[in-house]
Formats: sequence, C-alpha cells, structure tokens
Amino acid sequence: MKLNVLVLPGDGIGTEVTAEALKVLRETASLYGHQLVLSEGLLGGVAIHQTGMPFPDETRKLALEADATIMGAVGLPEFDNAPPEKRPERGLLEIRKALEVFANLRPVRSYKALLNSSPLKNHLVDGADMIIVRELTGGLYYGTPRGISGNGNEERAVNTMVYTRREIERVSHVAFQLARKRRKKVTSVDKSNVLENSQLWRKVVVEVASGYGDVQLDHLLVDNCAMQLVLSPKRFDVVLTENLFGDILSDEGAVLAGSIGMLPSASLGDKRPSGASVGLYEPVHGSAPDIAGQGKANPLGAIGSVAAMLEYSFGLTDEARAIYEATEEILNSGKVTADLKPEGKPASTAEVGDAVAKALSAYKAANSK
Ligand code: IPM
Ligand code: MN
Repeated sequence: MKLNVLVLPGDGIGTEVTAEALKVLRETASLYGHQLVLSEGLLGGVAIHQTGMPFPDETRKLALEADATIMGAVGLPEFDNAPPEKRPERGLLEIRKALEVFANLRPVRSYKALLNSSPLKNHLVDGADMIIVRELTGGLYYGTPRGISGNGNEERAVNTMVYTRREIERVSHVAFQLARKRRKKVTSVDKSNVLENSQLWRKVVVEVASGYGDVQLDHLLVDNCAMQLVLSPKRFDVVLTENLFGDILSDEGAVLAGSIGMLPSASLGDKRPSGASVGLYEPVHGSAPDIAGQGKANPLGAIGSVAAMLEYSFGLTDEARAIYEATEEILNSGKVTADLKPEGKPASTAEVGDAVAKALSAYKAANSK
C-alpha cells in the first residue's frame, strides 16, 4: 500500500519525538511491504520564524493533499505574550479546522509495567481502559464573537461556546460506533445544570443514542467526571465530550497511563471517497520547552500516534497491533525515559525509538507464517 504522509515536527520536543515516530513508521513500512511517501512542512513557532505565519499556505496545501498528517507539538515560551493570531497554538487550531477533523480520539489505558508511575493507588488504575472522544473543531475554541475590547475597568474579554446540532451529532456517531467495538458504553460529559450549550449537547446525544440500542449511555456533569476519573477510572469505556472539557479531562486521564508522554491521539474527519478518514495524528503532551533538545522526551505517545494512523487512516490493523505489542515489550523491559523511571538510569528518546523498532522486527519475525 502507498502511504502518503505529511510530517509536521513543530516545536520543542516535537522534533525529537517525531524523529522516533518516523523511525518506527519506516521500519513498519519496510517489514510489511508498504511504500512510504513522506513530505515535511512547517507548523507552529518554527513556521512563524520562517514565514511569519503559524500555519503557512504551503502547509495547508500539503495537508490537504496528504492521506494523513503526523504532528509533533507546537508552542514556544517566546510567544507567550504574542497576540492569538501570532501564536504557535493558532497553527494547530487552524490545521484542525482546515482538515475539519472534528473527532479527537484519546485512548487512555493503564499499562501493567507503569502502575507505580501513576500517582493513584495501583488497584484503582490497574485495568483502566477508556477512550476520550473530544469534539475538536467547535465550542469555545472557535466560537464568535471573541476578543478583548475596552479600557480600564471596562476592559472586557469574550469567548463564545457555540455548538450546532450537526456538530454534536457527527461526533456522537463516532463515539457510539467506537463503543460498539469496545465495551458498549458511552459516558457523555457536559455542564447541563448551568449551560444552555450543554442542554442542547445532552438532548442531541440522547437522540443519537436511540439509534444504538446495543450501547449503554450515561451522563456526567464535567465537575463530577473530573472526580470520577481518579476515584473510579475503570467505570469508563468511551467518554464523549465537547472541546474544552475534553482538553482538560484528557490531561487528567494521562495520570492513569503513568505519564502524559504515553498518550497518542487521532483526530478524524469525514471519510474521503477512498473510504479512509482524513486524519491528523499527534501525541497529547505538547512541546515541553523545558526539556527540549536534551534527549529526555518520551517518544511513546508519538509512536502510538503512528500506530493510530496506520489503524484509522489506512486500515492497517496488523501493523498497528505490531507497534502496540512492541511498545508494551519496551515498557516491560524497563528501557524507558525519565518520566517513567523515578530510579535507575533512564533511556534517551532515541534509545527508546531504536528499541521499539527492533522489537517490531522481532515481533514480525515471530508472527509471520
Ligand atoms: C491539546 C493542546 C492544544 C489544545 C493546545 C496546544 C492548543 O493542549 O491538543 O490538548 O488545547 O487543544
Ligand atoms: Mn491539551
């Protein structure tokens, strides 16, 4: 199969983890006989430096042409006081919108080898396995009116939380379809005791649910959900929520996996005529400028994002499985970065990438007829 992939390493540790993710992608393509066609583009702070814009037209063009895009991370402290349109994060928001990737899947699971890395008690975390489906192209992130105006005591700032029925419906379908392949349970998260926006959210989710009689639906208010995530994480299967709530809850979910460095994500849009979903794949962790350039970053979130790409954009489930198995093996071997290793000598970003690539070829050799 021909895999036409755009790579956007971005800022901070984005470049380091993306290099390891590509190592693993190249190894997978060569082991399974796929042709890899890679292009590279600019996004975020690095794009502002080179072109003045966080999401240059050239990158837009490349992204629209590619079958899938792999991203590292965006964000640099030097832009902290820049206006929103000149910030690296704006590049990320624009590419999500340009590709209309409205469903962001963030799988959160506990790994046996990492139970002690979680701040929660082992018996609470062990066996947790959920996927957060975060609406990604609506809500407060994009709603208008927005902006800061006025002066002195009258200076005011506005953001708008807006969802249409259509936006809620399409992401809900993604959640219910996913649940069918899992434990058949959707928990929808909102703040319907206060927000009209959430009242519409809940109403539409209930309507969509009526088409999935085999899937159980329950609702949690977002504050309660934040608590249940740490009190009883095993109660969750698919968590469906709007953009900002999903942003916050997915970082909280990261503690269950031992480190935010472990979390991959897949952002999916509508299907193309070929049947494949438009997809943007990125680790959840962000650019972590404090450890950038030191070989300390955990590449497993980025590597997991490659696996997600193979699965969701190309339907290559065996290849994705091979990467998940290889990752698990590396975790068990203890060859992990400092975020997962409070004691003993941690491995570097590149050592972890090498180890996964090597485990992959061993897995392939052992599992091919
Ligand atoms: C994430 C990030 C982004 C978001 C930032 C960098 C704009 O935190 O992907 O979770 O808020 O969506
Ligand atoms: Mn976030």
